[in-house]
Amino acid sequence: MASSSIATRLALFLAIFASLQHSCVSYYEFQVGDNDGWVVPPGNDSKMYNDWASKRRFTVDDSVRFKYTKDSVMEVTPTDYERCNSSYPNFFSNNGDTIFKLNHTGPFYFISGVSGHCERGQRMIVKVISQQKDDYASAAGGGRSIGASNLVVIVLIYFVLLYLASYLF
Ligand SMILES: *[C@@H]1O[C@H](CO)[C@@H](O)[C@H](O)[C@H]1NC(C)=O
Ligand SMILES: *[C@@H]1O[C@H](CO)[C@@H](O)[C@H](O)[C@H]1NC(C)=O
Ligand SMILES: *[C@@H]1O[C@H](CO)[C@@H](O)[C@H](O)[C@H]1NC(C)=O
Repeated sequence: MASSSIATRLALFLAIFASLQHSCVSYYEFQVGDNDGWVVPPGNDSKMYNDWASKRRFTVDDSVRFKYTKDSVMEVTPTDYERCNSSYPNFFSNNGDTIFKLNHTGPFYFISGVSGHCERGQRMIVKVISQQKDDYASAAGGGRSIGASNLVVIVLIYFVLLYLASYLF
């Protein structure tokens, strides 16, 4: 059969592979502070959240999830972050479980809206970079394990399809 030439098959599988890879792009939800949640840092550790954030890689459309009790979370301007000024937040939530989508590149500034908490270190800068093609390669770097497992699934599906196709064509 002319249609089952190697070139045709190759093109078909490249197309399938590309569409699978595209549909499996994953966004990651980071739980702020991990198991500690969003709290006044214990022991005057005012760098707690910026240390936490600097160890992670945030890309556009990832989310940060804040879990807290009797507290709140605000997204504010850099100036209001520096001054712990909670008067005019861009975003405010106090429902105890807040998911904030990082919808653009660049820094986001978060503070607690509860009086005195920001001053004691309950604040954080999250720096967001654009989604790169090398996500999979850097999956081991931290936080993006979903990307790595997706890659494994994609490769497995690819070989299963290749195997089935050897019967079909
Ligand atoms: C936290 O800092 C304040 C003043 O900066 C100090 O009085 C207090 O002892 C410190 N607490 C701890 C647990 O280090
Ligand atoms: C907070 O910021 C607003 C305007 O940006 C300003 O009017 C207000 O005085 C500030 N409050 C404090 C406590 O700095
Ligand atoms: C990000 O979300 C905020 C709040 O929903 C919105 O005001 C802003 O326009 C969005 N930015 C982009 C680039 O989508």
